[in-house]
Amino acid sequence: MNQPETLATLQASVHAPAYVKHIRLLAWVRDMAALMQPDAIQWCDGTDAEYNALCDTLVKAGVFKKLNDAKRPNSFLACSDPSDVARVEDRTFICCEKKENAGPTNNWMAPAEMRATLNPLFTGCMRGRTMYVVPFSMGPLGSPIAHIGVELSDSAYVAVNMKIMTRMGKGALDVLGTDGEFVPCVHTVGAPLSAGQKDVTWPCNKTKYIVHYPETREIWSYGSGYGGNALLGKKCFALRIASNMGLRDGWLAEHMLILGVTNPQGKKYHVAAAFPSACGKTNFAMLIPPKGFEGWKVTTIGDDIAWIKPGKDGRLYAINPEAGYFGVAPGTNEKSNLNCLTSIKRDTIFTNVALTDDGDVWWEGLTDTPPAHLIDWQGKDWTPAIAKETGAKAAHPNSRFTVAATNNPALDPEWDNPAGVAIDAFIFGGRRGTTIPLVTEARDWTEGVYMAATLGSETTAAIAGQVGVVRRDPFAMIAFAGYNMSDYFAHWLKLGKKLADSGAKLPKLFTVNWFRKDADGKFVWPGFGDNMRVLAWMLERVEGKGQGVEHAFGTTPRYGDLNWNGTDFSEAKYESVTRMDRDEWTAELKLHADLFEQLKHNLPAELPATKAKIEARLAA
Ligand code: OXD
Ligand code: MN
Repeated sequence: MNQPETLATLQASVHAPAYVKHIRLLAWVRDMAALMQPDAIQWCDGTDAEYNALCDTLVKAGVFKKLNDAKRPNSFLACSDPSDVARVEDRTFICCEKKENAGPTNNWMAPAEMRATLNPLFTGCMRGRTMYVVPFSMGPLGSPIAHIGVELSDSAYVAVNMKIMTRMGKGALDVLGTDGEFVPCVHTVGAPLSAGQKDVTWPCNKTKYIVHYPETREIWSYGSGYGGNALLGKKCFALRIASNMGLRDGWLAEHMLILGVTNPQGKKYHVAAAFPSACGKTNFAMLIPPKGFEGWKVTTIGDDIAWIKPGKDGRLYAINPEAGYFGVAPGTNEKSNLNCLTSIKRDTIFTNVALTDDGDVWWEGLTDTPPAHLIDWQGKDWTPAIAKETGAKAAHPNSRFTVAATNNPALDPEWDNPAGVAIDAFIFGGRRGTTIPLVTEARDWTEGVYMAATLGSETTAAIAGQVGVVRRDPFAMIAFAGYNMSDYFAHWLKLGKKLADSGAKLPKLFTVNWFRKDADGKFVWPGFGDNMRVLAWMLERVEGKGQGVEHAFGTTPRYGDLNWNGTDFSEAKYESVTRMDRDEWTAELKLHADLFEQLKHNLPAELPATKAKIEARLAA
């Protein structure tokens, strides 16, 4: 067979449009269709017409409820099966050949064994359904920092979410050309339909597998239709697979927001910040400076993931590989995040929030007074009285909105710049009621890596399982580093050394904790817009100007070192969110020791050495 015949035959075998000219892609789609046996194949072109048609299909199928167009134009509500509401970390696997390369923080299975396990599950798994072929670019189309993926999914909900969350459709295929590299991503809800069988509104399977093969760069996801389990460009590709690519090729794939800050003199900085899931990354990325900070401006480049590569000038350049926000709804309100509320006024897919009687949405924290009646995320009547009696939440604590970045009034003009933005500072933050000061600057790169490596945080509803327990979440990447965590630390240390050796000015590294509580269990620090006060101090430090005091862990500003214009936050309160307590720190360092024991395989010697220095300072 000659080349054009092969192409035409392949295209016909998978009903591909004529513009799909990538033989390897076509052959893979053909093989996957043979395995999963969908009734139909639909190639997604990424147009608005296609999005609208898919949303109509979802409405007709009862998966989507169209919201009141006068209140929330072009928006929909989906409610998932109650068993499928969050990322399933215990079902997430890194399947590399050697167990030690996955490391102790990842679930591991040998690739051959996992393939043997998955093969029967995927055989015929799309029967009775349409297989959507979803090409997407993570990052601006054609950016040297971006990469292409193709997701096959039997969920139209996934296809429309991918349209919002990525540069999805024909444009990605154009970049791919006839032989470009792509990450193959296979997703099924794992609920084939027999002839005539009526579908449920949220098909899924009790059995779930979220599987990554880093060596062959494949993703296979079975049984869940929710968020990071199913939108495979996000956690699976942009973090777990991409972190492996970064290890090999000398760059970073991080669980970080990226924001721009412009000071009243018009100087602009870029900051990337890592926080565990549901710790306010979206709010921080869309921060509105408080009273007293007139002339300052914060703009959003990304709210969840950053891909960061060293530039020729020795600086680090970051892009947001995503094109939308899949943010946590509860707690989002005019005070916590006005820009977000404005973004989701229209063109938004809501998942697992409550429905108001006039066809709009509501979640806990949206308004001080809840509506008198709602339909909750499980389709049940909800009133404040019922909530008081049963504790039922109107919206699931991990309910989400999916919205395009272009809806954000604070979108940074550089957000789509293929070259990325140069990073001036990295921030690492956890949710800690005690111990960790409001802000601490690392004295050097190694100390910053130590701070990030030992980050602890109370777990949230973004992860299926227990909520509110402190776990170590190094770099906020515990669930997302697709390889051995100690090798990941070494990668950061090596990169810092390489940048330093090139003579470039290294970004400054900070750790923050917005979440310290008082004796009554109430947050002391107001957070949200007031985080600007901390951010401004960090930028002064970047300029070599801000003042602070060194302590065992790093450098923290004194009360007088921050700008308190426009607030009466007292010195006593400030003391309570910055105080270093020797007993708490003794206990904390024991937990760092436990972490290092767990991660001892390949643990860089610099980390225990930094711990020893902290201990010596504490003892002094
Ligand atoms: C997310 C998460 O969805 O971190 O971003 O869970
Ligand atoms: Mn996240």
